[in-house]
Amino acid sequence: MIILKIGGSAITKKNAIKPTIDHENLDRICSELQYTNQQLILIHGAGSYGHIYAKQYEVGSKIETNSKERLMGVAKTQNSAQKLNNIVCEKLQEYQIPAIGIQPSAFIRNKNGKIIKFDYSIIKQYLDDGFVPVLYGDAILDENNDIKSSILSGDQIIKYLGENLRPEKVILGSDVDGIYTKNPNEYDDAELLEVVTKDTILESDSTHDAADVTGGMNGKINELLELAKKGVCSQIINAEKPGNIRNILENKKIKSTIIK
Ligand code: IPE
Repeated sequence: MIILKIGGSAITKKNAIKPTIDHENLDRICSELQYTNQQLILIHGAGSYGHIYAKQYEVGSKIETNSKERLMGVAKTQNSAQKLNNIVCEKLQEYQIPAIGIQPSAFIRNKNGKIIKFDYSIIKQYLDDGFVPVLYGDAILDENNDIKSSILSGDQIIKYLGENLRPEKVILGSDVDGIYTKNPNEYDDAELLEVVTKDTILESDSTHDAADVTGGMNGKINELLELAKKGVCSQIINAEKPGNIRNILENKKIKSTIIK
C-alpha cells in the first residue's frame, strides 16, 4: 500500500488571491497516478482553496461565543476544500482511477489542533474493495470549546494513517525537490538533504511560507519525524517535475529527501 500526498501548492496556485487550480499540473499528476497496481490512498492539500479562508477567518484561534463570522469562515473553508476534492476526483476518474472523495470534516475530530477521533475503517474498506480513497486538508470540529474548530492538514492525515495502516511507502509530493539546508528560493548555496532525521539542524527561515496556515515545510517535517519515530519512513519529492510521481510509483530513484 502507498499513501501519497499531493501538496496544495502542486495542484493549485497557492499564492493566488482566490481559489485557483493549476490545471496543467493537476492533469499531469493524475495521469501519472495510473501507473500503479498497488493499493493507493491519496491525500491532497487545500492550497488556495483552503488557506485563503482559513487565514482570513483565523480558523483554529480562540472564538468569541456565537461568532457568526467564524462559523461562516469554517463553512466557507470546508465548502471550498470539498470543491477542490471534487475537481481532483473528477480528473482522476478521467484517467480511469476509481477515486472516492472522503470528507475529513464529516468524521474526524481534533482537540487543540490534533486528531483525537478518526475511524479509518471506511477508508480501509474502500481500499480493500479496489477504490482509491481521496482525503484532503480541511477545517474540522475541535473538542476545545475555546476554538470549536481547527485546521486538519493533509500531513496530519498522513501521519495518522501511516501509523495505523503501516503502508509500504509514504510519499509527499511538494513543489520543491525535498528539504534544503536553506531556503532554495533565496540562497544559491542551499543544498538538498538526501536524508533528514530528528538530529538534522535546519535554518528556521528555510521552511517559511507566508500563505500557509499549517506551518509550511516545517509543519510537514515535524509530522513526518513523528511518523519516523513510529518506524514508518517517508519521502518528499517534487510533484511538479514531470515523471517524478510515475518514477517513484515504479520504484525508480529520483531526487528527494527521505525522512527517517
Ligand atoms: C490545509 O491542508 C487545510 C486548510 C487550510 C483547510 P494542507 O496543509 O495539507 O494543505 P497544503 O498542502 O499546505 O496546501
